[in-house]
Amino acid sequence: MIKEASNWVKFCVNTINEASSNRIALDLACGSGRHSIFLSNRGYKVISVDLNFYYLSSFYKDNIFRIRADIENLYTWPFKDSSFDVILVTNFLNRLIFKNIKGAIKKNGYLIYETFGEGHEKLGSPKNKNYLLRKDELLKLTHNMSLIYYEEVKVINFEARFIKHRILCKNV
Ligand SMILES: C[S@@+](CC[C@H](N)C(=O)[O-])C[C@H]1O[C@@H](n2cnc3c(N)ncnc32)[C@H](O)[C@@H]1O
Repeated sequence: MIKEASNWVKFCVNTINEASSNRIALDLACGSGRHSIFLSNRGYKVISVDLNFYYLSSFYKDNIFRIRADIENLYTWPFKDSSFDVILVTNFLNRLIFKNIKGAIKKNGYLIYETFGEGHEKLGSPKNKNYLLRKDELLKLTHNMSLIYYEEVKVINFEARFIKHRILCKNV
């Protein structure tokens, strides 16, 4: 069963709230496609990329185009500049590809990003600091974009325990 889209992704897509027919979104490191399907249901054409063939084959929709690629290999980055209206990254971090990500967003297009922050290693996985954002780091990585919303949150309740950093910004 496909997991539900994150509340942050829902919030950002509602905030963008522009007519989405003919708009193209890229779901990077898409996993089993929960956000690809959400974006597709909201009218986007979606390119879904992941390294894992098994995850990619676990979902299908007419307006979702799935690509198996290693997005961390800077020499084989598969996208041209200014291709996407929205790029979405959740629960994945490689600082080195931010330049590529920004380059692939159209002018006035959006970046939606959400992943784990430092301190999360005490609550769950990932524990490797390479995969954990430092305080304000997401702001620095997107400094050349226009900030719309940003938050660093710690959630500990009966259902979930995590620290996440989240941003919505625009390529102006
Ligand atoms: C924690 S999952 C997140 C999946 C999805 N974004 C979500 O939030 O439901 C991380 C994903 O990154 C993918 N991944 C890891 N390294 C990758 C790489 N070098 N290139 C492409 N995808 C990669 C994994 O296969 C996995 O599906």
